[in-house]
Amino acid sequence: MCGIVGYIGNRKVYPLLIKGLKRLEYRGYDSAGVAILNGGLEVFKKQGKVSELEDFVAAAKPHGTVGIGHTRWATHGEPNDANAHPHQSSNGDLAIIHNGIIENYSALKQDLLNKGHVFQSETDSEVLIHFIEEIQKMHDCDLEEAVRLALTKVVGAYAIIVISKQDPHQLIAARKGSPLVIGIGKDKNEFFIASDATPIIEYTNEVVYLNDNEIALLTQNELKIKSIEDVPTTPYIQILDMELQSIEKGGYDYFMLKEIFEQPNSIRDAMRGRLLARKNHVQLGGIHKYLQNLIDAPRIIIIGCGTSWHAGLVAEYIIEDVARIPVEVEYASEFRYRNPVINKGDAVIAISQSGETADTLAALELAKSHGATIYGVCNVVGSSIARASHEGAYIHAGPEIGVASTKAFTAQVVVLSLMGLMLAKHRKTISEHQLSEILLELERIPEKVEKALKSNAQIEYIADIFKDARNFLYLGRGYNFPVALEGALKLKEISYIHAEGYPAAEMKHGPIALIDEEMPVVVIATRDSSYDKIVSNIQEVKARKGKVIAIVSEGDTLIPTMVDHVIEVPMTHEMLMPLLSVIPLQLLSYHIALMRGCNVDQPRNLAKSVTVE
Ligand code: F6R
Repeated sequence: MCGIVGYIGNRKVYPLLIKGLKRLEYRGYDSAGVAILNGGLEVFKKQGKVSELEDFVAAAKPHGTVGIGHTRWATHGEPNDANAHPHQSSNGDLAIIHNGIIENYSALKQDLLNKGHVFQSETDSEVLIHFIEEIQKMHDCDLEEAVRLALTKVVGAYAIIVISKQDPHQLIAARKGSPLVIGIGKDKNEFFIASDATPIIEYTNEVVYLNDNEIALLTQNELKIKSIEDVPTTPYIQILDMELQSIEKGGYDYFMLKEIFEQPNSIRDAMRGRLLARKNHVQLGGIHKYLQNLIDAPRIIIIGCGTSWHAGLVAEYIIEDVARIPVEVEYASEFRYRNPVINKGDAVIAISQSGETADTLAALELAKSHGATIYGVCNVVGSSIARASHEGAYIHAGPEIGVASTKAFTAQVVVLSLMGLMLAKHRKTISEHQLSEILLELERIPEKVEKALKSNAQIEYIADIFKDARNFLYLGRGYNFPVALEGALKLKEISYIHAEGYPAAEMKHGPIALIDEEMPVVVIATRDSSYDKIVSNIQEVKARKGKVIAIVSEGDTLIPTMVDHVIEVPMTHEMLMPLLSVIPLQLLSYHIALMRGCNVDQPRNLAKSVTVE
């Protein structure tokens, strides 16, 4: 949710900022802007994508080696040039970029208006830079101190970078609730700073993750960090484990398609070193100190949002099925505001690809404050949710850049399956034979995903038939019910077609009224314990002339005689079927969106990392 980038060193900063903003564009693309120190302070900003900013700046060719850049996902104020970042102080000397929300901005703004400040935008971020300016004037202090004092008065979440015409050889950054990573240049004479590591990785792999309530002062040769209470801290340098190629499109037209096709490998990575099929054993290295708490938990609460919540639903079915622990799956946003019962001893699994989702983080903190033990299941290493958890397991899917989540979902399901099986083994709720059957089958999943991906051309053909539909229904039962929800979410978020996912048996309690010859119904009808039941549901749809696209198990001869289109996926254990049945749904939404002329990587109104409530 908003991407921010900054640089101080000897390189030409403008092209570096633009490249960084393009890498961060998945976080927001309503507007973009840069501010560059070059004797004076030059600010360029424009509504729209980073490429529109580039066109706008083209003639100016800004010089300078210190600067900041921002790509916005609008919260306060519509996306337009005025609301684009960077924002400047009244006197024009200071510029700020901000990711997050200043909750008490209207009280601060009123006070500043009374003092004569004039605002150019409707944003909370502009209020913050005026506030910093005012504090610097009042206290007659240096900029770093003014930023620090201002932040002690601010309520809300932020990652900010501030620059000043008066101090052209420094950047000041601070974070609370929104991520910031500082890259240390190879010769220790330059620093990069960004919302995540993607703009940094091609220059250096030495990074420092700024913690909440920390302020960093960056000059060309030095990085100093202190707490907001003015206590210096020693930067903790970490080595990034990320390849440049993992954040590039690698020949694909869209990141989403690349990420869909990466799944055989991302699934392998999610289970590497954890799935020991020959020993009939599962080990999750990240869960050891608190393993017993999880085994003994009277209840597991799973929290997440969107696709991560869907992965949580699959986990509920798995854990209850094999480990016999009661599980509740909660939307993080509801959980945190509804006075939930959380008992000491409860285990909470927080699922988040980005590890930065504000609602999930807040729900986690709430559960922690009630004595629950938190297990994070995140993709982004070092992310806020990963760090706030007691223990956890990374999903190792590699950077996911397409806004619609694909490979993170399957990697989450793999890790959660491993967690469920590990618990089942410890709790002796699964026989050795059953465990071995599932583990051996899990090992075969990557090659089966490869096979499922071979239906791509056929799915493209089906997409062409249904691309103009106005509504879609997705039906599934058992383990395939969360997949129906996920398929519907994928379609609506990237193609803007209204789609609903339902448990197939619920259809007769309402949604069946929607069915007519215009309504495409995607039914996930693979061979499992509810096969006969879902066959009846298909007949109910066909009796009302609905158009059925069925996802079936390889070799099914019955369903193809009943429906309009079938897409086969390989057979597998019922519990692991979501890992295969979701693949055609990802591809279907991708092709439909593309045929409708939508930008699949950057769907309207969305952003990859939702760091606001
Ligand atoms: C859907 C999608 C979102 C995210 C949700 C949670 O394709 O990407 O629904 O799943 O915003 O994000 P994370 O997993 O980063 O917490």
